[in-house]
Amino acid sequence: MKINWPNGISSKVTVGADWLEEAKKAGIDIPTGCLNGSCGACEIEVNGKVIRACVNTIKGSKKSELEVKFFYDPFW
Ligand code: FES
Repeated sequence: MKINWPNGISSKVTVGADWLEEAKKAGIDIPTGCLNGSCGACEIEVNGKVIRACVNTIKGSKKSELEVKFFYDPFW
Protein backbone atom coordinates (compact mmCIF):
# COMPACT_ATOMS: atom_id res chain seq x y z
CA MET A 1 0.00 0.00 0.00
CA LYS A 2 1.39 3.35 -1.02
CA ILE A 3 0.73 6.40 1.07
CA ASN A 4 1.13 9.96 -0.13
CA TRP A 5 1.77 12.21 2.85
CA PRO A 6 0.99 15.93 3.03
CA ASN A 7 4.71 16.79 3.01
CA GLY A 8 5.15 15.28 -0.44
CA ILE A 9 6.77 12.09 0.79
CA SER A 10 5.42 8.73 -0.29
CA SER A 11 5.98 5.57 1.64
CA LYS A 12 5.10 1.92 1.39
CA VAL A 13 3.23 0.54 4.35
CA THR A 14 1.56 -2.72 5.23
CA VAL A 15 -2.17 -2.86 5.73
CA GLY A 16 -2.89 -2.99 9.42
CA ALA A 17 0.07 -0.81 10.36
CA ASP A 18 -0.27 1.99 12.84
CA TRP A 19 -1.01 5.47 11.43
CA LEU A 20 0.99 7.39 13.98
CA GLU A 21 4.05 5.19 13.57
CA GLU A 22 4.03 5.26 9.79
CA ALA A 23 3.51 9.01 9.78
CA LYS A 24 6.50 9.45 12.02
CA LYS A 25 8.65 7.35 9.69
CA ALA A 26 7.63 9.65 6.84
CA GLY A 27 8.60 12.68 8.91
CA ILE A 28 5.05 13.70 9.74
CA ASP A 29 4.09 14.57 13.22
CA ILE A 30 0.40 13.96 13.70
CA PRO A 31 -0.72 15.94 16.72
CA THR A 32 -2.13 13.79 19.48
CA GLY A 33 -3.89 14.33 22.73
CA CYS A 34 -5.86 11.64 24.46
CA LEU A 35 -4.68 8.66 22.37
CA ASN A 36 -7.96 6.89 22.99
CA GLY A 37 -10.13 8.29 20.24
CA SER A 38 -12.08 10.93 22.10
CA CYS A 39 -10.38 14.31 21.60
CA GLY A 40 -9.97 14.45 17.83
CA ALA A 41 -6.53 16.09 17.89
CA CYS A 42 -5.09 13.39 15.69
CA GLU A 43 -7.65 13.59 12.92
CA ILE A 44 -6.31 13.21 9.42
CA GLU A 45 -8.04 12.93 6.11
CA VAL A 46 -7.44 9.74 4.17
CA ASN A 47 -8.76 9.73 0.61
CA GLY A 48 -11.27 12.34 1.67
CA LYS A 49 -12.44 10.53 4.77
CA VAL A 50 -11.62 11.86 8.20
CA ILE A 51 -10.25 9.33 10.64
CA ARG A 52 -8.70 9.51 14.07
CA ALA A 53 -5.16 8.28 13.62
CA CYS A 54 -4.65 7.08 17.19
CA VAL A 55 -7.42 4.48 17.10
CA ASN A 56 -7.22 3.38 13.49
CA THR A 57 -4.88 1.16 11.58
CA ILE A 58 -4.10 1.58 7.92
CA LYS A 59 -6.76 -0.10 5.86
CA GLY A 60 -6.50 -1.41 2.36
CA SER A 61 -8.15 0.51 -0.41
CA LYS A 62 -9.30 -0.43 -3.86
CA LYS A 63 -7.07 2.30 -5.13
CA SER A 64 -3.89 0.84 -3.58
CA GLU A 65 -2.86 4.42 -2.89
CA LEU A 66 -3.87 6.51 0.07
CA GLU A 67 -3.83 10.26 -0.01
CA VAL A 68 -3.32 11.75 3.43
CA LYS A 69 -4.13 15.32 4.34
CA PHE A 70 -4.24 17.12 7.59
CA PHE A 71 -7.70 17.76 8.85
CA TYR A 72 -8.28 20.91 10.78
CA ASP A 73 -11.45 21.08 12.71
CA PRO A 74 -12.66 24.70 12.49
CA PHE A 75 -14.34 24.33 15.85
CA TRP A 76 -11.27 23.02 17.65
S1 FES B 1 -5.34 11.61 20.21
FE1 FES B 1 -7.35 12.08 20.91
S2 FES B 1 -8.64 11.24 19.38
FE2 FES B 1 -6.62 10.63 18.79
